[in-house]
Amino acid sequence: MFNIGSYDERIKDFNWSISEQELGYKPGSVINIGWYCSDRLCEMGGADKPALIWEGFGGKEKQYTFNDVRLASNTIGTFLRELGIRDEDRVCIFLDRNPELYLSFVGILKIGAIAQPLFSAFGDESLHVRLENAETKAIITQKKHVSKVRKIRDSLPHLEHIIVVDYDGKRPLQEREVAFSLETATPVESLEIFPTHAESPSVLHYTSGTTGQPKGVKHVHYSLISQYLTAKWVLDLKEDDIYWCTADPGWVTGTSYGIIGPWSMGITQCVLDSGFSAEAWYRFIEKNRVTVWYSAPTAIRSLMKAGDEVVAQFDLSSLRHLASVGEPLNSEAVIWSEKVFGKAFLDTYWQTETGSMMISNYPGMRIKPGSMGKPFPGITAAVLDPNTHEPITETGRIGLIAFKPGWPAMMRTYWNNEATYQSKFVNDWYLSGDRASIDPEGYFWFTGRDDDVINTGGHLVSPFEVESALLEHEAVAESAVVAKPDEVNMEVVKAFVVINPEFEAGGDLELKIMNFIRKRLSPLAMPQEIEYVDSLPKTRSGKIMRRLLHAQEWGEEIGDISTLEDDDA
Ligand code: WTA
Repeated sequence: MFNIGSYDERIKDFNWSISEQELGYKPGSVINIGWYCSDRLCEMGGADKPALIWEGFGGKEKQYTFNDVRLASNTIGTFLRELGIRDEDRVCIFLDRNPELYLSFVGILKIGAIAQPLFSAFGDESLHVRLENAETKAIITQKKHVSKVRKIRDSLPHLEHIIVVDYDGKRPLQEREVAFSLETATPVESLEIFPTHAESPSVLHYTSGTTGQPKGVKHVHYSLISQYLTAKWVLDLKEDDIYWCTADPGWVTGTSYGIIGPWSMGITQCVLDSGFSAEAWYRFIEKNRVTVWYSAPTAIRSLMKAGDEVVAQFDLSSLRHLASVGEPLNSEAVIWSEKVFGKAFLDTYWQTETGSMMISNYPGMRIKPGSMGKPFPGITAAVLDPNTHEPITETGRIGLIAFKPGWPAMMRTYWNNEATYQSKFVNDWYLSGDRASIDPEGYFWFTGRDDDVINTGGHLVSPFEVESALLEHEAVAESAVVAKPDEVNMEVVKAFVVINPEFEAGGDLELKIMNFIRKRLSPLAMPQEIEYVDSLPKTRSGKIMRRLLHAQEWGEEIGDISTLEDDDA
């Protein structure tokens, strides 16, 4: 039987107190995600159960029980406290997917500090804007990435500590740097958990918008109530499962469902920290007997491209339940997965801002390939008319996806940017920034974003960030960045560039520009193509009309240009 039982029954009289009761949380009392992900499981008799099965490059393996997680997070928490880290201080985790990433996440939360996980692939510029905005006090990193921190630390006065988890003594540490090793530190048996409450801040995730700098989405400890129950009902996790979430915790999926959801349920999860290949992934599933797999459409499409023969070389019979998030899951991918794995990937839709799954396909519910499914119990979702912001009642008409605020994992603000946070609400609805339609049976069908943000392989890229990086190059006079279609990633980044007259297109200019921006952007945000143009289409007030370039790339009707020109009149 599925954990959710029947969706139709669950949506009747749903109340989040179901989750509160299962977690033994009484409103008004202390709630600390770090404690829920470690100590509580040990107290309930799960101390010796594997919590993390980790594999790195070259097949290196490590395993941690829930008691190991408890001890390691105590040890890291104590170390941070001794450095002077207090509740609500921001501690950035800038690590590859090492065990330390997962263990320090839990440790940071236990002392009431705010965890700020960032992709270790970020270049120094991307790292800088996020640490500056958050006024981050400490960063946990590794030898490999410390040079990026050194480049920017002088302009980050709040950054007091740079913690290196794999320091080998070969080169001297520099100012503010300190070594910490879980292998040599004395395990701390007991740590006083900071008494965080429902509204105490927990995690700060940065996400990209169309304009301006990336926004820091602030979450609170009460988010656990949503993350626990959605992990239970949508991912259908059970006592004996071996769960694999392929997402990096630099992305919200890797924390909400790569740490908090599964560990608060006491589920064994595995992590593969090596590059993508179909063989490596299937081998990992076979070896660990993975039962529940949460991944993303681009990965699924890449597996599809690798072919059915590869699948046949492995024993993947352990797989019981598959789910996906991050971008539109095309029906072909759903149908293919059913054919080769005997299970369809179930699509789930949510955002960094929503903190937990909002619209999903549920185990046992009839799947319509290509649809995102239905709202999670307790979630009021609608599509709104873009002009009136009233819910659209006729089926099939496209509108703006919106949610009634009030679920536990909803963001509480954008860090240092309350105005943008407020701008997301109209008529008591939270606007997601996406568009969809609803069919007569209440299934949601995603149609696209309502802004210029590019979703490449599930990663949101701000055209503004890429344009800014391009403009810093001396040859670039103007630039406009849009998505162009791609078979696997659905969208990739394309840049239109007007060059300064003293430069000449061609030769090695493109290479030079690419090398220049590579230092400023994450690899995920890098343009796949630069097209030189004489001028860019603009509104009367000089704003670049990205939508026009976008339409051109996608072979769409451009529509009425006069309205575009009036856009910002
Ligand atoms: C997109 C990801 C189509 C959407 C957890 C959303 C999706 C943005 C889906 C959030 C889906 C996410 N189908 N599009 N199932 N899931 N998206 O903040 O545009 O990185 O607003 O969080 O990804 O991306 P974010």
